[in-house]
Amino acid sequence: NTPLRLGIAGLGTVGTGVAKIVRQKAGLLAIRAGRPVEISAVSARSRDKDRGVSLADYAWEDDPVALARRDDVDVFVELMGGSDGPAKAATEAAIASGKDVVTANKAMLAHHGQALALAAEEAGRVIRFEAAVAGGIPVIKALTEGLAGNDITRVMGVMNGTCNYILTRMLSTGLPYQTVFEEADKLGYLEADPTLDVGGIDAGHKLSLLSAIAFGVQVDFDSVALEGIEKVTIEDIRHAADMGYRIKLLGVAQMTGRGLEQRMSPCLVPAQSPLGQLEGGTNMVVLEGDNVEQIVLRGPGAGMGPTASAVMGDVMDIARGFRIPTFGQPAAGLEKSTPASTATP
Ligand code: NDP
Ligand code: HSE
Repeated sequence: NTPLRLGIAGLGTVGTGVAKIVRQKAGLLAIRAGRPVEISAVSARSRDKDRGVSLADYAWEDDPVALARRDDVDVFVELMGGSDGPAKAATEAAIASGKDVVTANKAMLAHHGQALALAAEEAGRVIRFEAAVAGGIPVIKALTEGLAGNDITRVMGVMNGTCNYILTRMLSTGLPYQTVFEEADKLGYLEADPTLDVGGIDAGHKLSLLSAIAFGVQVDFDSVALEGIEKVTIEDIRHAADMGYRIKLLGVAQMTGRGLEQRMSPCLVPAQSPLGQLEGGTNMVVLEGDNVEQIVLRGPGAGMGPTASAVMGDVMDIARGFRIPTFGQPAAGLEKSTPASTATP
């Protein structure tokens, strides 16, 4: 059987996790895919760093664009991050060279997902991005495959583990926001630019991707009404608890009479509800459809194992020949959404 050959750009937390799975589970993956899944070539900034996994069998490229164009790469796996720069350039190069793409890069997709999906369709390729939303939870597969027979009416959830950690830790310790923020920083939970987490931007990126899939519209991050958790005080959290509520950074996307409404903001949820009980860095996504009513998915939203697991789910789909379009339907046919804030009632 012809092997599926991967080129992995980015060997940090997620890329190393993917390399480990491919090495450690080669036999299992070959059985499940019906063909071997191999790594041909890799790229990162530093060639000499010890990453805890042997890379000796793979070709090395300093330039991720060169990796994306290699003849011995069938699937370009983009795990560098960043909405523009090398990630976008290499993804475009991969598509132009006839490769499928798997990425975990929600920032790139929230800003350029529509254009990249169109380019992929025109080239007869797919971009898959399960790991970009809610880490290890297979929420994109749930929407595009399991729930394909539903009109989705609402998508909501907690999609940023760092904010959920900060809010639950404030409640359990009684410490103020700034102290817990500094703790989270020391523990390495925050993105390099912490505003992405605490400003609600990272979660907003994820919500905009889920909305596009759920409601069949173009990715429209600019229409997400965003408010982060920086202004949530310990008094807010205590008062909410006294009334039987928890404060969560909650994303909600729903089609209203005025258009698609997308909001990411601190919300009160009943303390005893599944969302209210969600602790630490865990994510939860609630999907509502006309036939299924409600599905609740809960799991790890970040980290090496969970995120690499989601990347491998996409790789395995491609290895098996599943060619579901990037947004579950052709990107060329996706309507631009009407933001609820500007739509005429
Ligand atoms: P890391 O910062 O751990 O790793 C980034 C990797 O990209 C590093 O290996 C780095 O090289 C490499 N890199 C950066 N710039 C370049 C460049 N110009 N050329 C070649 N290589 C480059 O990131 P993560 O693994 O945490 O995240 C990767 C992606 O996955 C991001 O898009 C992120 O948002 C997403 N994601 C991450 C999750 C997580 O839990 N970490 C969860 C969900 C999504 P070097 O190592 O040499 O510095
Ligand atoms: N910063 C993100 C979070 C990483 O805390 O959820 C996973 O996307």
